[in-house]
Amino acid sequence: MPALYRLYRKKRLPPATRIVGSSRTAFSHEAFRQKLAESTAKFTGNDFDPTLWNEFAKNVFYQAGDLDQPNDMAALASMLDELEQGASTTRIYYLATAPQFYEETVARLGARGMADQHNGPRRIVIEKPFGTDLATARKLNVAVHEVFAESQVYRIDHYLGKETVQNMLVLRFANAVFEPLWNRNYVDHVKITVAEDGKIGRRAGYYDSAGVMRDMFQNHLLQLLMISAMEVPSQFEADLVRNEKVKVLQAVRRLDVDHVAENTVRAQYAGYTQEPGVAVGSQTPTFAAVKLFIDNWRWQGVPFYLRSGKAMNCRTTQIVVQFRSPPHMVFDAGKHRVPEANRLVIHIQPAEGIQLHLQTKVPDAGMRLRLTDLGFRFDAEFPGALPEAYERLLLDAITGDASLFARADEVELAWGIVDPILRTWQEQGVPDLYKYEAGNWGPIEAQKWIWRDGRDWLDSCPVL
Ligand code: BG6
Repeated sequence: MPALYRLYRKKRLPPATRIVGSSRTAFSHEAFRQKLAESTAKFTGNDFDPTLWNEFAKNVFYQAGDLDQPNDMAALASMLDELEQGASTTRIYYLATAPQFYEETVARLGARGMADQHNGPRRIVIEKPFGTDLATARKLNVAVHEVFAESQVYRIDHYLGKETVQNMLVLRFANAVFEPLWNRNYVDHVKITVAEDGKIGRRAGYYDSAGVMRDMFQNHLLQLLMISAMEVPSQFEADLVRNEKVKVLQAVRRLDVDHVAENTVRAQYAGYTQEPGVAVGSQTPTFAAVKLFIDNWRWQGVPFYLRSGKAMNCRTTQIVVQFRSPPHMVFDAGKHRVPEANRLVIHIQPAEGIQLHLQTKVPDAGMRLRLTDLGFRFDAEFPGALPEAYERLLLDAITGDASLFARADEVELAWGIVDPILRTWQEQGVPDLYKYEAGNWGPIEAQKWIWRDGRDWLDSCPVL
């Protein structure tokens, strides 16, 4: 709702956009608007203008309904028809329901013919988690496709709505300088970190059965991997973009049961099992690190290290492209020191920008070197906060651009990568589930694990 309000404020919403909320609780239109006014005001802070909100809220409506009651869906359908009065309209169904109701909701929409497009486009937006493993994701795709064609389906991954993630595409595909270096000849490895300092809060009901692999890797981290590793599409068009992303997932080497232990780390923050709602003795990991290889010409032999966790040192999402060292060093970097090689650090959040780390001569000191950086900061170049991911994504769904949404095959391939890891963790109990204190960068074992490869994490809380 804050995203829709902000779009309205920026005059980006198509004229006469109407928003209808539905849930079991009874509300009058006015009471619903009031409730939304409060939460939207809280969320949008200074952007909230009560006069503007009232204008916007005139087009917000409410219809109570229970999914289990077929008559309620009929009532919703007639309300929508009444609002539209036979005009050809684009309709977006946005499933803000708990995931276990996706199939049923879609089936009910189908049963009432609400996906028929004879009176304008009908689209459905589905939130994550899209299934809980490959089998359930496939089943959900089948159920969705019984009612909606794939072109009508918009599976949201809010990471793709982030400006800094989209800027990765621009960095790679609108600049020629990086492309010649962006491959196994010059890149030593790539690290993708999504660290959160927050704990699970009141989300145990969901999180304890999901864990970090389902919550963060299957979707967000693999999306970042795809954007980092994909080939350039011939045009920025939904299927062409998604074809290239899918090829990355197809090329990711699957970790079979014999390789999970050495290529993954899993851990849980100390005190997790005392969080309200967490099962006694829960083995749910809140941190994981995974090493993946992409078997294609561009990336053969280049490890991609992915890690994510709750209760970590700080909130930071960053992609580090670590280049190889110069083949021969003519400068003496100091006793026993090998100068660090170049790296490109893409700060996704909360710092927003890009840094190229490079060696520089320390003035007045013979030929001593120090790592410095060339930097780009969004806030220095473009004043004002970046828009929220949902603004972009909801507008794209409204205008029918699915480039930044996950396609059915993409979601299934992602589960195909994650499933064997989850299965091995659970069935073989390897690797061990380590513990880490909140406020650390995960367990020490995750450090030792990457050190064994002669590499290191970039543990920094960047303030650009
Ligand atoms: C959600 C996860 O998808 O992403 C949360 O369910 C996580 O557990 C959140 O905190 C992170 O999103 P962001 O945009 O804050 O990085």
